[in-house]
Amino acid sequence: MPLSTPSGHPQKPRVLTAADFVHEETYRATRAPVTLASTIVPDAYRSAEFHRLELERVWSGGWVCVGYTSQVANPGDTFLTVIASQSLLVTRARDGALHAFHNVCRHRGSQLVCKDGNYDVIRCPYHAWGYALDGKLLGTPYFKGLDVPAEQQAQFDMSEAKGFRKEDYPLLPVAVESWGCFVFLNLSENPSPLGEWLGDLPKRLRGYPLHELKLVRRQSVEIKCNWKLIAENFMEYYHLPWVHPELCNISGFNDHYRVQGPGMYTGMCTFPVSQDEETVRLDLPAMPGLNSREAQTAYWFLVFPNIALFLLPNHLFMLMFKPDGTNRSVEYADLLMHPSALAADDAERKMGEVFNFWTMVNRQDISAVERVQIGLESKAYPGGRLCYRFEEPVHRFQNMVIDRMVGRNRVPAGDNEEDPGWIEALKSSKPQAKPLVGGKQHKLAEIPNS
Ligand code: FES
Ligand SMILES: [Fe+2]
Repeated sequence: MPLSTPSGHPQKPRVLTAADFVHEETYRATRAPVTLASTIVPDAYRSAEFHRLELERVWSGGWVCVGYTSQVANPGDTFLTVIASQSLLVTRARDGALHAFHNVCRHRGSQLVCKDGNYDVIRCPYHAWGYALDGKLLGTPYFKGLDVPAEQQAQFDMSEAKGFRKEDYPLLPVAVESWGCFVFLNLSENPSPLGEWLGDLPKRLRGYPLHELKLVRRQSVEIKCNWKLIAENFMEYYHLPWVHPELCNISGFNDHYRVQGPGMYTGMCTFPVSQDEETVRLDLPAMPGLNSREAQTAYWFLVFPNIALFLLPNHLFMLMFKPDGTNRSVEYADLLMHPSALAADDAERKMGEVFNFWTMVNRQDISAVERVQIGLESKAYPGGRLCYRFEEPVHRFQNMVIDRMVGRNRVPAGDNEEDPGWIEALKSSKPQAKPLVGGKQHKLAEIPNS
């Protein structure tokens, strides 16, 4: 019997198998209430078997953000993505509808599209079968006499190809939906609507013209850590004073508030977001339509599993990340702007400054999470105790991962259904923080040192 802490976390690690990873009991220490909980088992970050199951159950079992509507603004616009080693394409059809398909030809399985672009027809590079942007198979050269000049028809006679109908060979579709500027795919067989996944987030952000934002800067980064460490690092601000001294100048540690409704997300905000020109100038025009509270707020939302939104009044900085093996991830660091800000004086320079600031903050985070990955490779480490006042979002996130691993595909509840007043309170000049847990404020000044 392994020694246990009061919360049930083993003091000595034990070897876990695939059967353990889909078993509720394995996660007892993380299923405990946040005030007692310990982190998810370290094998979640280092086991190839856990990773294999996670690709199936997390990445192929729910909605995953893969890009932005501005990447498929016009009919024919197409971009490629990969989820759980599956090559996929997203395209805009002539009627304006968004489609997504497995990037594989229905003939002998060639990859269809090799690079992002604008296509009239999706044509296979191998034997030139052509597909419409809505996935219909249009042409199969030299097959069943189609496209064959009359004088060559005897040579290419395919009349023996019985039972072949083009309508039986469309591209293989993938569920696709968009919210605001975000495009999501879902590889599961019976996907629930994206709206259920997002919970109250669209309603919460309805004042922001998210659907009008355009991708204006992108940096691709390879990170030597498991993808969950990127997500977890984003959602807790415990590390701010030590890792991000510059960020604290605009997003004060004491000005963070919990923002958590129902949905597959974690959230917090900074109110008010500060101006500090020594750090970064945030002097681009605010997005149109924001109310006075939104014009002073920075929101930080992690939409499970893979996008981190840094939503400021005049821009959206994004991290979009995916696993590339057990202890490697690939990430896009993106800047999105409203068209009205793009037209502002000196917009290029200002956008560059904002982007450079966030990529600097991101480098600080990358150093931190890569160190955590190295630490987690230690076979001696049995998991650690969560610091509940700051790390409740990490607890929520890890429980979302566990839900999927054990086949419990629920959307977690929020904590504001019976207490909508805190948003109203934020509008006032003297905001009241939503307690993190236990009815206490979680502003640093009110937290005793011990
Ligand atoms: S594999 Fe695509 S046309 Fe043959
Ligand atoms: Fe950070």
